[in-house]
Amino acid sequence: MATIAVFNQKGGVGKTTTTLNIASALAMLERNPLAIDLDPQAHLTHSLGVNQEISNGISSFFRDERSLLDLIQYRSSGLRLIPAHSDLSKIDALFGKSGNVASRLRDGLGEQLAGDNSPIVIDCCPMLGILSLNAIISADRVLIPVSADFLSMHGVQKVVSLLDVLQARYARKFDFRILLTRFNARRKLSFSIYDKLKDRFGDKVCDTRIMENVSLAESPAYGKDVFSYAPNSQGAKDYFALTHELVETGFFY
Ligand SMILES: Nc1ncnc2c1ncn2[C@@H]1O[C@H](COP(=O)(O)OP(=O)(O)OP(=O)(O)O)[C@@H](O)[C@H]1O
Ligand SMILES: [Mg+2]
Repeated sequence: MATIAVFNQKGGVGKTTTTLNIASALAMLERNPLAIDLDPQAHLTHSLGVNQEISNGISSFFRDERSLLDLIQYRSSGLRLIPAHSDLSKIDALFGKSGNVASRLRDGLGEQLAGDNSPIVIDCCPMLGILSLNAIISADRVLIPVSADFLSMHGVQKVVSLLDVLQARYARKFDFRILLTRFNARRKLSFSIYDKLKDRFGDKVCDTRIMENVSLAESPAYGKDVFSYAPNSQGAKDYFALTHELVETGFFY
């Protein structure tokens, strides 16, 4: 089972848009994906038009030891979702100092979803705290969306350095891919950022770039992924191509 954390400490780079649309593309490919919203902003939950309910959110896994299996919501698209509630913001304060808290999700997935070989995609918040650590430690792969703007390189290097530290600390290997988002073909800056990322990180940079596309920004307001909102849009084409690339290169297995 491939578990992918979609993470960048930088805010607004396309983590939720990417989680929503690759999980939805995997559902279209009948891969039975599970998306987990691990962000107290609950943007993924909202983007799918799901109401937040405290009792059914991922925070009750951390607080009340609810089974992950009880929290899964089944969508008609074939996507499975564990939603978030804003209450998730309290997890850091409540459990931040307890011993094994960073491995809670990893243990839960291992015990409660053993035998489930479908891909899991986790939407992270733009902060390195207990929640993002749980996501990364439970994942074997990290997808790092980077928007095509000036500070992007700086943000990516921070995430890659963090993965190096965690790799040593947990004696595990984290594979990662960098995804350039909000690419604007009319701006030289977009091309120069892509070239710099390729020079620095080589094959770790996805060939597919996600273009700036209004349908990607609009679809969450209708509780939809881009494929059901605007199937012929550039955004739908890009996220389908990305999902294919990640499947074909073995990032999703
Ligand atoms: N390729 C794109 N084209 C146009 N708009 C986009 C694109 N990708 C993301 N957006 C928009 O940019 C904003 C930020 O995207 P998103 O919420 O996915 O980022 P995020 O990294 O999850 O943010 P946060 O750090 O707050 O969780 C949203 O309004 C989203 O609709
Ligand atoms: Mg987000």
